[in-house]
Amino acid sequence: MNIKLNNGIFIPPIGMGGWSQKKDQILMALDAGYRLLDTAAQYGNEEEFGAALSESVVSRDDIFLTTKLWTDDIRRRRTRDAFQESLERLKTDYIDLYLIHWPAEGYEDAWLEMEELYKEKKIRAIGVSNFEIKHFEGLKTRGASILPAVNQIEIHPYFRNNEVVEYCKSKGILSEAWCPLGGPNNMESNDEQIIKISKKYSKTPQQVILRWHFQRDIITIPKTSRIERMKENISIFDFSLNADEFEAIDNLEMGKRIGADPNNFDF
Ligand SMILES: NC(=O)c1ccc[n+]([C@@H]2O[C@H](COP(=O)([O-])OP(=O)(O)OC[C@H]3O[C@@H](n4cnc5c(N)ncnc54)[C@H](OP(=O)(O)O)[C@@H]3O)[C@@H](O)[C@H]2O)c1
Repeated sequence: MNIKLNNGIFIPPIGMGGWSQKKDQILMALDAGYRLLDTAAQYGNEEEFGAALSESVVSRDDIFLTTKLWTDDIRRRRTRDAFQESLERLKTDYIDLYLIHWPAEGYEDAWLEMEELYKEKKIRAIGVSNFEIKHFEGLKTRGASILPAVNQIEIHPYFRNNEVVEYCKSKGILSEAWCPLGGPNNMESNDEQIIKISKKYSKTPQQVILRWHFQRDIITIPKTSRIERMKENISIFDFSLNADEFEAIDNLEMGKRIGADPNNFDF
């Protein structure tokens, strides 16, 4: 079930979105069977993850931990220090997947430093987030020698982000969806097409959406603080969308972003 990244290591297809999560929710997710955990220095909760990792009965080696390098640290050219600070807050001596959070000025230099940390075996895979095609080209021009393993980007039925997803697929870079359910309002869960499909399979609209991502070869990190929803969100492997249903969801595209545009952000 796990998916192979372009450097040969494996990542679970669904993880726990970490924004605003506290230690108890992280422990709950591990109990529910989640092994992919997603946080970021910018979320301000790496310590909560560190405490959960120390307390959990699940061994560190069985957990796939992602964290991210924030824009201030990219601009101030302090990748190595920022990485070390994340390790300390997370109470671990390695990160499974370290991402450039947003392509801020200096992201190419940050990438070269991340390549060094990867070669030193402090990170099992390096990747990016919120990258458009031009940002990958920027890495190449700067002389990057390692291809990003993952691009974590906004993707949900009303915003498929198809051009970037297809580009990544053609290069062997795995796409990972943030706001996979459409963010805090879950707007697509009220969509008529999705409700119709969910009734057919006796699933929730959220499960149908997560299944659609899975069938697009996209990994997801839905965020919920509730145990019953955590269980629901990983129970998507006992049904499958047929070609018409898959296409019907594809056709919901509206070009509707929820978050910032990587071509124009100011943080
Ligand atoms: N790289 C980036 O720039 C970036 C940007 C944004 C987010 N992210 C990552 O992506 C993760 C997910 O994105 P997100 O949290 O913005 O959006 P999301 O996962 O699409 O949606 C989260 C919302 O959906 C609700 N929800 C979750 N499962 C549900 C279910 N089965 N039924 C009904 N409601 C459900 C949650 O409410 P409850 O908690 O009340 O259940 C929460 O309000 C974040 O936590 C973060 O780790 C990354």
